[in-house]
Amino acid sequence: MVDPVDAGVAIRAVRQLNPARVRILVTHGHPDHIAGNDEVVAALGCEVLAPAVAARWPTRHDVGLRDGDRIELGGEPLEIRYAPGHTDDHLIAIADSFVASGDLWFVGGCGHTRAGGHLPSLFDSFRRMSALPGHLRILPGHHYASQNLAFCADLFPEDEALAARLTAARSWRREDGPWLPTLDEERAFNPFHRFADPRVEARLKTRYADLLDPTLRDPEERTFSALRRARDLFVATAP
Ligand SMILES: [Fe+2]
Repeated sequence: MVDPVDAGVAIRAVRQLNPARVRILVTHGHPDHIAGNDEVVAALGCEVLAPAVAARWPTRHDVGLRDGDRIELGGEPLEIRYAPGHTDDHLIAIADSFVASGDLWFVGGCGHTRAGGHLPSLFDSFRRMSALPGHLRILPGHHYASQNLAFCADLFPEDEALAARLTAARSWRREDGPWLPTLDEERAFNPFHRFADPRVEARLKTRYADLLDPTLRDPEERTFSALRRARDLFVATAP
């Protein structure tokens, strides 16, 4: 399991599935990802795999993970990649068909940098991961689709496909099951993946010109950074 913050849900699910081996993968040390670990470990006696640099976080771990490590979780071979920015210890886990993205990627958005984060590192992580294949489905750490897509639709109000996606996000209910888009879908709708798209830069110039930092020489980083700052300022007008 990955970041089982709701220990009761995680323990019930494991007892139903009754797997031969249970392990916890920690994407980063924020409390809303690790708070369930102690209870899950006490109930199931499982191993905790966490970023090797997480020693300073208030979480126990049995195995410290480093960039490039290969592990197996739930029968899936996973490649561990460090993706700092949201926090400096953040990792993602890449399988053949999905990416457990923690708080790096969300549907329509990305993790913030307000709690131990670093914006240049976040951009670097986005750029390094931009070569990953588009068929991979993202399993984000939180479901913030409606808030994020409201920001996207506010930035590109003429985009009808984006408006339809926002409507779908607003009518989504937990019982519908997880919303797990592919990276290709995210690259079409999520402006944080489109830092090299001149249409995003152009729109920022008309909507958020004051957020485009002229000291950033790299236009892609300038675009990404302005997007993240604009998202921090954005307050959705609907739920
Ligand atoms: Fe987080």
